[in-house]
Amino acid sequence: MKFIRGRGRFPSPFNFISRKVQSHIDKWRAFFHMASCFLPHVKKQSRLLFLSLIAGVFFTIVSMLEPWPLKLIFDNVFYNKATPRLLAPFVVPFKSDKLVLLNVLIVYVIVVATFRGIFYYFQQLLTSRAGQQIVSGVRVDLYSHLQRLSFSFHDRRRTGDMLARLTTDIRILRDILISLPLTITSELLLMVAMLSVMAVMDWQLTLMALMAVPVLILLMKKYRHPMKNEMRKQREREGHLTSIASEVLGAIKVVQGFHQEPKEVKRFSAQNTNSLKSGLKATRLEAKLKWASELTVAIVTAIILGVAGRRVLTGALSPGDLLVFVFYLKTFNRPLRRVSKITEQLARGTASGERILDLMQIEPGIEDLPHAIEAPCFRGEIRYENVWFNYKNGKPVLKDLNLTIEAGERVAIVGPTGSGKSTIVSLLSRFYEASSGRVLIDNMDVRDCTLNSLRKQISIVFQEPVLFATTIAENIAYGKPDATLEEIKQAAERAHIHQIIEALPEGYETVIGERGGTLSGGQRQCVAIARSLIKNAPIIILDEPTSGLDMFSAMLVMNALKELVTGKTVIIISHQQETIRDVDRVIELHNGNIVQEGQLDMLGVKP
Ligand SMILES: Nc1ncnc2c1ncn2[C@@H]1O[C@H](COP(=O)(O)OP(=O)(O)OP(=O)(O)O)[C@@H](O)[C@H]1O
Ligand SMILES: [Mg+2]
Repeated sequence: MKFIRGRGRFPSPFNFISRKVQSHIDKWRAFFHMASCFLPHVKKQSRLLFLSLIAGVFFTIVSMLEPWPLKLIFDNVFYNKATPRLLAPFVVPFKSDKLVLLNVLIVYVIVVATFRGIFYYFQQLLTSRAGQQIVSGVRVDLYSHLQRLSFSFHDRRRTGDMLARLTTDIRILRDILISLPLTITSELLLMVAMLSVMAVMDWQLTLMALMAVPVLILLMKKYRHPMKNEMRKQREREGHLTSIASEVLGAIKVVQGFHQEPKEVKRFSAQNTNSLKSGLKATRLEAKLKWASELTVAIVTAIILGVAGRRVLTGALSPGDLLVFVFYLKTFNRPLRRVSKITEQLARGTASGERILDLMQIEPGIEDLPHAIEAPCFRGEIRYENVWFNYKNGKPVLKDLNLTIEAGERVAIVGPTGSGKSTIVSLLSRFYEASSGRVLIDNMDVRDCTLNSLRKQISIVFQEPVLFATTIAENIAYGKPDATLEEIKQAAERAHIHQIIEALPEGYETVIGERGGTLSGGQRQCVAIARSLIKNAPIIILDEPTSGLDMFSAMLVMNALKELVTGKTVIIISHQQETIRDVDRVIELHNGNIVQEGQLDMLGVKP
């Protein structure tokens, strides 16, 4: 009775096996579910995939043929053994002259090798082309999806993580989505074909050859886990290394300013050594596994040689058959190793695919509403009506804001840091959406306009001028992609930066460094202003355009701004009195509420 009760808990081998099988089934199911989401991309390449499969099948067949000319040389040139019926047409016509037969068989060796090479080439080429095209389709989809996602999404996500999904994850996905199914097919085919031929030749020897399989599987199981661990560690450490490098190179001025170069090099090299250690460990384990499996195959080959050699001596087996056998046995190791790796690759690839799908499935958040229409040309009257707003999971930042700005009016918003100034203006372009209340331009709710037509009419100059690492001309033309060089120059002239650009050795073709090399902070801001000028939008938003600049640069920027703001509706956020001297009205904000408004000198506010 006691025994029976205990039996449920006893780990029976059937339970163990069924659990194992179940876990494999689950992995495959997850894979198919993930893969089905990419099916439209895969389908587009179905012709290439089919051709690559055909090339794979032919490659397998030709690989199988490889040892046969050698067998025929042994059996029919050196000895006078019977020729297998299937091969007779290739041999019998030349059998009368052994030398001719030898030469013909040598030609067969070359022919087989050539065809094998050709099929291999096509299989690799077609698989890789299909894979690359699928991946580049998925990548563009993901990238354009990321562009559509709202500010709230980008606030929360780390750029590094998104880059990893765009590059590494997509690469892993390519391997699993394309290479893996094709590999399985051709490797399994090769294994089955080789085993069948071996069994037909001598089933007893085939059974002996199969002895290697469980040993090889056990060896792989033993080494795979620690190998995987070390590789993962190495990848993590390399990731860490990259982030140290990108952080430090990004802040190289701070590092040099504080003379911390030696410390940074030390930090980097410590991490580098760690990564090296893991890499070496993984390589050592891999080499050990290879050595152990080769040894296993060698031992089994030796046993077979012992048994089969005796048969050859008694004439039960031909020397050529033995050759084919040993050849197949040696080749057997490779597909076995590949196929045994599959479930592990499957899990990794599925995880990568799911990471990509996770991103793809995030709703853009802010999109054109179904009833949205093209906004007409704005005059530029702006009205906030009872606007409440809070960031995701945050306290209300704007509390029942009511504000009207006339068309062509220049308004400054001042107030302590964190009072909600930048938030107010980001609602206007619908970067975020008001939790309640309405934001109107010319009496039109911003939610009723298409995003494109709305944002086209609002120019924003931020505190940090974000420029792209391309030419100055292209940076300015970003505000109007079809701008002519003449227009670009005009915009630069109005932004008081034309002469400075002309003085550069390459003028408008000068490439701006990623982190602002070539131009000073003030000059970069002027380029950003030229970019806004060329856009010629009726509404201009300036979010602390001169803070962080020295007096000379601030003057340069303010001169440029004068041109930008004439005849436009302007909202300017600034802490500097100089910058807001010419505005029509100043609004002071505290904790998301307007506390006073009026003219600068009347208010006596300290921006
Ligand atoms: N992306 C965001 N996610 C969550 N909270 C935010 C985000 N941006 C701003 N906040 C919070 O909203 C409040 C208002 O921020 P906002 O940037 O509008 O202030 P600000 O007046 O422009 O300040 P500053 O003068 O420093 O630029 C702050 O308390 C800030 O912590
Ligand atoms: Mg701000």
